[in-house]
Order: sequence, then C-alpha cells, then structure tokens
Amino acid sequence: MTKFELNGRNVSVKSSGDTPLLWVVRDELGLTGTKFGCGIGFCGACTLHVEGRATRSCITPLSAVAGAKVTTIEGLDAQGQHPLQTAWLELQVPQCGYCQPGQIMQAATLLKDYPDPTDRDINAVMAGNVCRCMTYVRIRSAIKLAASRMRGTTHD
Ligand code: FES
Ligand code: FES
Repeated sequence: MTKFELNGRNVSVKSSGDTPLLWVVRDELGLTGTKFGCGIGFCGACTLHVEGRATRSCITPLSAVAGAKVTTIEGLDAQGQHPLQTAWLELQVPQCGYCQPGQIMQAATLLKDYPDPTDRDINAVMAGNVCRCMTYVRIRSAIKLAASRMRGTTHD
C-alpha cells in the first residue's frame, strides 16, 4: 500500500509503486478530471499538483508521491470557485475541454510564481500545455483576469 494525501484526504492505494500516478488517480481513486493525452510528458493534459507544484502525472510513478500532498482539478477549490476556474467560465475558454484541467493546474502554479504575469511569463510557463483547439488566446486572457482578481485589482 502507498499512502499519500489527495485533495486534503488521506488515501491508501494498492497499485504497484511503478504505476503512473495518472492511472492511480483516475482508475483506482475515480477522479477523472485529470486527463490522459500523450503519456510521455509532452502535452500537459495530465497535470496535477504535487506539493503545490505542477506535475505531469503520466510520468510520475506512484512511489514518488508516498507521503506527499497531491491536488487534482477536483481539489483545486472545494466549491470549484478558484479565480482561475471562474475566469475560465466567464471568458468561455474551453472548446472541447479536454486539455483544460491541465491548463488550469499549470496556470495555478504560474500565478504562485508570477502574481502579475506578462505575456512572456505566460508563454514560457504554459508552453508545455498543448491545446488542439487552439484556445491559447483565451487562456492567456483568463490567466490575466484571475491574476488581477487575486491581486485585488481590476482587469485591464
Ligand atoms: S498525458 Fe501527461 S504530459 Fe501528456
Ligand atoms: S479545448 Fe480542446 S484540446 Fe484544448
């Protein structure tokens, strides 16, 4: 058994230690917000947080998170009202939606490091999160809107 904290709850899972965290979260723990895209760390669809940092769960073995805090899109905010989530809805960012949980989890890390991100900051940190539907312009707008609200200022 491997124990870790998932969205604030202690969990014990049976999967072997080399099982990708993505499959543990989706199949054993039933949280399907985190998506499978490429499986090799190149697309960002599987992004969740380990100890508050964006992590590609498709290439992270379960053994690597023993005793750690893991957060998925389901746990980013208890009510689904994180400023990124509300900005995403308000600006109607998603198209097919498949990449969007990973985009939001990556963006949450971005805002910790860059409370007032420039286009360059956003492009650099979000570069590894691919969107087939090309929602990049709206993603950037939503990140700026969320950032401005988190700083307590008006979006420009
Ligand atoms: S599924 Fe993990 S980076 Fe693509
Ligand atoms: S919204 Fe379709 S892949 Fe991003």
